[in-house]
Amino acid sequence: MDALREGIEQLWGRRSELSPADREARALVAEAISLLDSGECRVAEPLPECTGSGDRGPVVVNEWLKQAILLWFLLGEISTIELGPFEYADKVPLKRNFALAGVRVVPGASARWGSFLGRGVILMPSYVNIGARVGAGTMVDTWATVGSCAQIGERVHLSGGVGIGGVLEPANAVPVVVEDDVMVGSRSMITQGARVGRGSVLGEGTILNPSIPVVDGETGEELSRGVVPPWSVAVGAMRRRQLPGGEFFLPCVLVLRRLSEGERHDKARLNEILRHHGVSA
Ligand SMILES: CC(C)(COP(=O)(O)OP(=O)(O)OC[C@H]1O[C@@H](n2cnc3c(N)ncnc32)[C@H](O)[C@@H]1OP(=O)(O)O)[C@@H](O)C(=O)NCCC(=O)NCCS
Repeated sequence: MDALREGIEQLWGRRSELSPADREARALVAEAISLLDSGECRVAEPLPECTGSGDRGPVVVNEWLKQAILLWFLLGEISTIELGPFEYADKVPLKRNFALAGVRVVPGASARWGSFLGRGVILMPSYVNIGARVGAGTMVDTWATVGSCAQIGERVHLSGGVGIGGVLEPANAVPVVVEDDVMVGSRSMITQGARVGRGSVLGEGTILNPSIPVVDGETGEELSRGVVPPWSVAVGAMRRRQLPGGEFFLPCVLVLRRLSEGERHDKARLNEILRHHGVSA
């Protein structure tokens, strides 16, 4: 692994010289991305859980794997993908062998090669980008998008239309982290390395990024920016801001209440029938 990492770092150092004609470089980069695809490696490793104390919680980012993904866009060639009457042209192939991986993929869903989907994952017509990791038993509901390198935990529900931001464009240092057992309400947007702690439930349309205050509804205290503490029930809200141009309302996330550790909110209970796979997750 160290040799592969060094090889990628060297290629990154001379990326301005590279082209798809560099077959050896291409093979090396493909090897690194295959490790992401199989789940042997991950772009970011959230260390155990965010504490809820206001910091974002430690996330180890494997920069060389992010570099490998970017290098692929220099070294890969555009090829045509055909599906019935549809035609696509892309540098990144689609992920394959879902049944073998114990993953259910509804027509209209796409996952790119270099993303990892754990056993029991269900992809409704949705999109999972390269470098993303989706944990076992997670449901990615209709029109949800999981951006490049985002790290989604196990038994999560990303409801319809949820947008999870990626790190590649615009360039972000740390990927979004959604920890195990989270429910993200429809059409929420979580971007720029924001983090949702384990077991939390977010209401519809919640916007979360590292500039957005997360406020305790009981005390009014600002708990963090961009981090929802574990086992919180939170909704998108507005805070008053006085600016030179007048009074405005900017978004914040309001923690309505706390669940006890391990408790599932009634509205976030998983529907085991929908998730029945015939595989153990
Ligand atoms: C976030 C959520 C769990 C809150 O539900 P809850 O804990 O039962 O909260 P309650 O309904 O008791 O509401 C508590 C307060 O918050 C308000 N509230 C509830 N949900 C809200 C939301 N999404 N946005 C803003 N305020 C909300 C209520 O009006 C209520 O205010 P009040 O005390 O002044 O009456 C719930 O709204 C939810 O599940 N949302 C996601 C739904 C979704 O996207 N499902 C997936 C479909 S694919």
